[in-house]
Amino acid sequence: MTGKISRAFIDAVLSRTSLVEFIDSHVSLVKRGANYLACCPFHHEKTPSFNVIPDKQFYYCFGCGASGNAISFAMNYLRKNFVESVEDLASRIGLEIPKEAGLNQHNHASYQQIYGFLDEVSQCFYQNLQKNAQALAYLQNRSLTQQTIDHFQLGFAPDEWQHLSKVFPRQQKVLLDTGMLVKNDKGNIYDRYRGRIMFPIRDRRGRVIGFGGRVINPEHQPKYLNSPETPYFHKSNELYGLYQVQKLAPESILIVEGYMDVIALYQHGVNNAVATLGTATSQNHIQTLLKSAKILIFCFDGDNAGRKAASRALTICLPLVHDDEVIKFMFVPEGEDPDSLVQKQGRDLFYQEVNNALSIDAFLLKELQQEASPHDTAGRSKFIHLAKPFLSSMRKGALKELLLNQIAQIVRMDRDRTLQLMEGSEGQAATDVMPIQQQTRRQHTMPSAMRIAAALLTQAPDLFVNVSQQLNYGLLKECGNPLLIEIMKFISQGAQTTAQMIEHWRDNEQYDVITKLAIMPLNLPKEGMEAELIGALKKIEKNTLQNKIDQLLYKANIESLSMEEKHILQKMIKQQKTSLSS
Ligand code: GTP
Ligand code: MN
Repeated sequence: MTGKISRAFIDAVLSRTSLVEFIDSHVSLVKRGANYLACCPFHHEKTPSFNVIPDKQFYYCFGCGASGNAISFAMNYLRKNFVESVEDLASRIGLEIPKEAGLNQHNHASYQQIYGFLDEVSQCFYQNLQKNAQALAYLQNRSLTQQTIDHFQLGFAPDEWQHLSKVFPRQQKVLLDTGMLVKNDKGNIYDRYRGRIMFPIRDRRGRVIGFGGRVINPEHQPKYLNSPETPYFHKSNELYGLYQVQKLAPESILIVEGYMDVIALYQHGVNNAVATLGTATSQNHIQTLLKSAKILIFCFDGDNAGRKAASRALTICLPLVHDDEVIKFMFVPEGEDPDSLVQKQGRDLFYQEVNNALSIDAFLLKELQQEASPHDTAGRSKFIHLAKPFLSSMRKGALKELLLNQIAQIVRMDRDRTLQLMEGSEGQAATDVMPIQQQTRRQHTMPSAMRIAAALLTQAPDLFVNVSQQLNYGLLKECGNPLLIEIMKFISQGAQTTAQMIEHWRDNEQYDVITKLAIMPLNLPKEGMEAELIGALKKIEKNTLQNKIDQLLYKANIESLSMEEKHILQKMIKQQKTSLSS
């Protein structure tokens, strides 16, 4: 009744859909080697860099980074929601979504029921807050007024395990489906949110689709907890506060990082702020926001994480922005966030800082200049090299032209020559646009055996079944790389194609990493992949074993080992010897 489509059904749809045929029915594709090419439908370009890879049932654009499987294409190109996308793909291949999950009349009603139910839950939290002195004191301490609390319908989940089960005794199923209750391995069912200020998250039509919850006891972890992903709650589609903001039809929208930033700004009269839900800004977010206002201003925290997020947002926005749209970037001073800043300085000074925000072109040039100082020839040529993928990801138009002129001035060349260099195709087509800092450091993000193993497994998941007998999976699971571990786990549960992997990581913060792995060039013939994978995984096993031994030896040096630890250490050293001799 929740409308949740089963994993098995999604797998069936993905594995029976021909991605090439599906995309070709919307964007005409040309065969090139084993893959298919087109000019990218997601950004403006003259030379095709949009690749469809039939082996992997996966598409990728080297120009703007758009990527995904058939479901992603339906969502991003055809602008359907997740359920509609699955339904359309299913009907193309003659499958029907199992009754209770489809978008039929009956199910519209059940979505409606869920929204209605979450609204009741939200009201229950609101009442709790009004009755709870400690929670009210917390918010007063953060200077929130009752009017602000009402505007955002803030609430409180008491520090109890069975609160919701008591208030809604007959609704256990929907409480579980919406993630309000959690069921653990032992089958125990309890409240997900305990002792937290509750922020109801609304979709654009004002319906409650999920919650964020913040601890009031600073010792509790994690600080914020969000509802899990459901068919009606995708974090990368939603923005906190957008419902309230868009009702005002503002000229500009401010994008901040946290719930409390939106709320504090509102209370100080800055009523046009929205926040992402603890995830990075997505293409979807920007496209949605640009429908509500032509001016977007990112307002990032002045710390390292904020700068990284800004760099990423820049990459995402450049291909999307039209000439009549303005995207700007501002940074609050180090150690502050918009919440603390507006509390300290008040609205007028905050607006002054907003007015000083950098335009997108100015921000790009500043970032580039930090990586390549154009004071000598080497710096200028690096500058051109770094600027090229950004410029070529942009739509044709005035902004692009103005940026080109600025680049020409910086590298001290005339405009036409600069353009030639920017458009030259010498081995550059494959450069994907990555955040600038990452581009310089990308070599070092994951040790190479792990990177190779993760890439091979993402690109050819079916290999793992064959090689797993030759490996020590128990040891591999302790390799310390959470993504690699999750990849192996997901494949051992039956994943067979790259498209399934992509689907599994949709809306996960590692999604971009998975897509990068899916297209990482391996320069290997198909026959060589298995051997390469075994090699990489064996190496990881060996390193893991060595690390574990080192840790115990280190411990033995500074304190002493328990009998059990000594035993384990001996066993591992023996294991290491046998694997060396084999
Ligand atoms: P306050 O401490 O309440 O002022 O929060 P903040 O908004 O200043 O926090 P911060 O800058 O640390 O985080 C910004 C946003 O990231 C939050 O609003 C959350 O959406 C998200 N976030 C922060 N911490 C966590 C966490 O532990 N888990 C999750 N899932 N999200 C978090
Ligand atoms: Mn804060």
